[in-house]
Amino acid sequence: MFERPRSGERAVLVRLALGAPADPEDLREFNQLAVSAGAVPVATIVGRRDKPDPRYFVGSGKADEIRLEAAALEADVILVDHPLSPSQERNLEKLIGKRVLDRNGLILDIFAQRAASHEGKLEVELAQLKHIASRLVRGWTHLERQRGGGIGNRGPGETQLETDRRLLGQRVKVLTKRLEKIQQQRETGRSARVAIPIPSLALVGYTNAGKSTLFRALTGEQAYVADQLFATLDPTVRRLALPGGTQVVVADTVGFIRDLPHELVAAFQSTLTEAREANVLLHVIDASDPRRDEHIDEVNRVLEEIGASAIPQIRVYNKIDRLESTARIECNDEGQPDSVWISAGAGVGLDLLQQAIAARLTCAVSRLQVHLPLTAGAARARLYAAGVVIGENSSELGFELTVDIPVAERGLLERIQGARIAAL
Ligand code: GTP
Repeated sequence: MFERPRSGERAVLVRLALGAPADPEDLREFNQLAVSAGAVPVATIVGRRDKPDPRYFVGSGKADEIRLEAAALEADVILVDHPLSPSQERNLEKLIGKRVLDRNGLILDIFAQRAASHEGKLEVELAQLKHIASRLVRGWTHLERQRGGGIGNRGPGETQLETDRRLLGQRVKVLTKRLEKIQQQRETGRSARVAIPIPSLALVGYTNAGKSTLFRALTGEQAYVADQLFATLDPTVRRLALPGGTQVVVADTVGFIRDLPHELVAAFQSTLTEAREANVLLHVIDASDPRRDEHIDEVNRVLEEIGASAIPQIRVYNKIDRLESTARIECNDEGQPDSVWISAGAGVGLDLLQQAIAARLTCAVSRLQVHLPLTAGAARARLYAAGVVIGENSSELGFELTVDIPVAERGLLERIQGARIAAL
C-alpha cells in the first residue's frame, strides 16, 4: 500500500520562534525529525514573529528568502516545524514552486514508513487521509509535475490527491470499518488472553528515550533499536520473569513527541491500549537530554489524554553512562521505589530496575494459595499457560497452587468451580 521511501531528498528546514526567544533545542529536534523521515537538511531558516502570518505563516519577506535559498540549493522539499493551514501550505508552495510539508505531515510521513502491522498501517493511512482531506481543495495543479513518492507524498497521498473528495471519503469509511473490526477482534483475543491475566508493564516515553533498548535488555528480544525518532510503532509484547519468580508481560509502545498530531494520538489505539491497561508503567526518560523535564511533562500529558494517568509509574532515568552517574533507586514518601537510574545501552542498573518493578507490583499483584479440586484440571492448565503459577504442592485431595495475580483480577479465580483461595 505504501510506496517505498525515497531517501536523500534535500530539505530546507523552517522554524519560527513565535512570541518567545528561539531555543536551539527545538531546532535540534526538528532536524532529527527531518533526518528520521529520510531527508537531508541542506539549510535552516529561522525567524521570529509575534504571531503567524495568515497568508504564508512566515512573513512575505521570509517566504521570499525561503524561495531564493531553496532555488540556490536545489532543494526538493520545504519542511516547516509548525502546523500550517491548508491555504498557508498551498500559498507557500505556489510562491516557492516546491513541495511544502508541515510538522504534522512530516510526523505522519515517518509513521507511514514505520508502521509494520496491518492495524498500524491502516491507522496511519487513515490519519494521513484525514490530513490530506483537509488539504484537498483545488489548486494542486501548481505542483503536479513535481509530485512523486517523496517525503510527505508516501502512502495514500499521490493517488488520492488526483481523485475527488467523494472517493477519499469512501476510503476513510472503509478503513474506519476495517479498523473497528480489527479492534473488536483484538478485544475478543484480549479478553481470552486476560481470562487469567498476568501482571503487565508497558514502556512509555518520549521518542528516542531508549524504550526499545530497555525492552531488549530486559527480555533478551531483538526489538528494533535505532537512533531515529519513532523506530517503534507497533506494540511488541514479551514475557519476563522477575527475581522471586513473578512472571510479567512487558509491552514496548510508540514514542511520544511534543505537538504529536492529535489524529495520531487518537489513531494509535493498539499501542495505547497496551499502556492504558498496564498494571505499572515504566516511563523511560533520556536523563542526558537537556529537555528531559519538558519531555516528562509531555509524556504525562499524553498519558492523561489516553486515560492512563492513574496507573502507577516508575520513572526510568536512562543513559546515565552519558552523565557519569551511578545506578540507583529513589523512593517516594511512602517508601515505594519511584525512580531508577540506569543505562539500558550499557546494561547497568537493570537488576535495580527489576527489584523496583517487583516492589511496585507487590502493591498491584497478590500472591495467593489456591486449592483446586481434581476435577479442575482444565483451570489448572490455564493458570500454567498464563504463567502465573509460582509453585505447586498437589495431593490426591486436589491441586495446591501458589500464584501471583493482579489484585484487581482475584475475582477470576473465585469463579473457578470449587476453588478455595487464601492470601499468603
Ligand atoms: P522510539 O522508537 O523513537 O520511541 O525510540 P526508543 O525510545 O525506543 O529508543 P531506542 O531504544 O531506539 O534508542 C534510541 C537511541 O538511544 C539509540 O541510538 C540507542 O542506542 C540509544 N541508547 C539507548 N539506551 C542508551 C543508553 O543507556 N546509553 C546511551 N548512551 N545510549 C542509549
